[in-house]
Amino acid sequence: MRIPVPVGDAAYDVLVGPGVRSRLTEVVATRAGARAAAIVTVPGLREQPWFDLTTGLEETVLEVPDGERAKTLDHVEELCESFAAAELSRDDVVVAVGGGAVTDLAGFAAAVYLRGVSVVHVPTTLLALVDASVGGKTGANLRAGKNLVGAFHQPLAVLGDTETLATLPARERRSGLGEVAKCWLLDGRDGPAAAAASEMELIEVAVRLKARVVAADEREQGARALLNYGHTLGHAIERVVLDRDPDELRHGEAVAIGIAFAVRLAERLGRVDAATVAEHDGVLASLGLASALPEDLDPERLLDFMTRDKKARHDLRFVLPGPQGFEVVAGVDEGEVRRALEEFADASSDPTAHRR
Ligand SMILES: NC(=O)c1ccc[n+]([C@@H]2O[C@H](COP(=O)([O-])OP(=O)(O)OC[C@H]3O[C@@H](n4cnc5c(N)ncnc54)[C@H](O)[C@@H]3O)[C@@H](O)[C@H]2O)c1
Repeated sequence: MRIPVPVGDAAYDVLVGPGVRSRLTEVVATRAGARAAAIVTVPGLREQPWFDLTTGLEETVLEVPDGERAKTLDHVEELCESFAAAELSRDDVVVAVGGGAVTDLAGFAAAVYLRGVSVVHVPTTLLALVDASVGGKTGANLRAGKNLVGAFHQPLAVLGDTETLATLPARERRSGLGEVAKCWLLDGRDGPAAAAASEMELIEVAVRLKARVVAADEREQGARALLNYGHTLGHAIERVVLDRDPDELRHGEAVAIGIAFAVRLAERLGRVDAATVAEHDGVLASLGLASALPEDLDPERLLDFMTRDKKARHDLRFVLPGPQGFEVVAGVDEGEVRRALEEFADASSDPTAHRR
């Protein structure tokens, strides 16, 4: 499957399907003058059966630590030093192979090395395939928070090889499904259709939606912000659980809970009716996602983090469904959010609530 992402003069394709990693040689060959390639990945992935990538160029494989802790400016610097040691020139190519942490970090290093060299993403988690590798956002974390430095740097291509997903732990798959659920809802689709969809269909709907939104608003001046549906509470939950157990929840799992909350907040604000809440719950349930708050999360702490969210721009803003479809709603009344959160926490403590 070929999904074009038409952004400015840098239109590129997302290829999805079993075995598309074998197209890497062909993709880098489109870069006239390319002589060398740096493949950036994490140690565990090099042992996977599908790690048989070849660029047809002089290759250097570079490893960064696994997961979120790799996303630091120190690692960006280390990668750039390694690119220089491998004598990567402006015409050469960086290939990022891994989850979103790798595509973000290697993409950022590629964006700043020599003021920008080409990057090809080979996303190997569902989340990276449907979200992180598409749209050109790259970045790293600061001590002050996640993704606070970065650059827009569109890839040369994205090779979403579904064979790589065969080795993905169930937990990581569920995390990707959280972002799929978001796209499914933004695309106006329902629960029964999600339950009936194949993995390829789920990926296709999510990538096409993201490609369309990014093409309309590459730099998040408007419509791209809708991709943050479920993220205001999702990010706050991630911040709170990070302090007690970083493995308690993955990003997409937190987004799913954030979606369940956002639709209830929309109902409370008179934007949608109970049927819409049931529809959104239906999509989450069809994809096997929990929609209840984890135990013992203090609504006041969540509220505190939500007001400090970098995308909140100093007020409480949510992407919410409503009569005109999804919209970014700024300046939501804090009291309403508090009451909605307390109700959500109460409903979540019900034994029949859909917890993981
Ligand atoms: N740039 C964007 O637009 C964007 C969008 C969403 C998320 N992100 C970023 O993506 C990151 C999260 O990405 P993630 O959820 O993919 O996490 P991740 O990159 O940490 O990967 C999760 C785990 O899965 C392992 N893994 C990866 N592929 C595997 C495979 N095929 N088989 C077995 N194990 C595999 C990884 O080694 C890692 O341990 C965050 O840093 C987030 O900020 C960026």
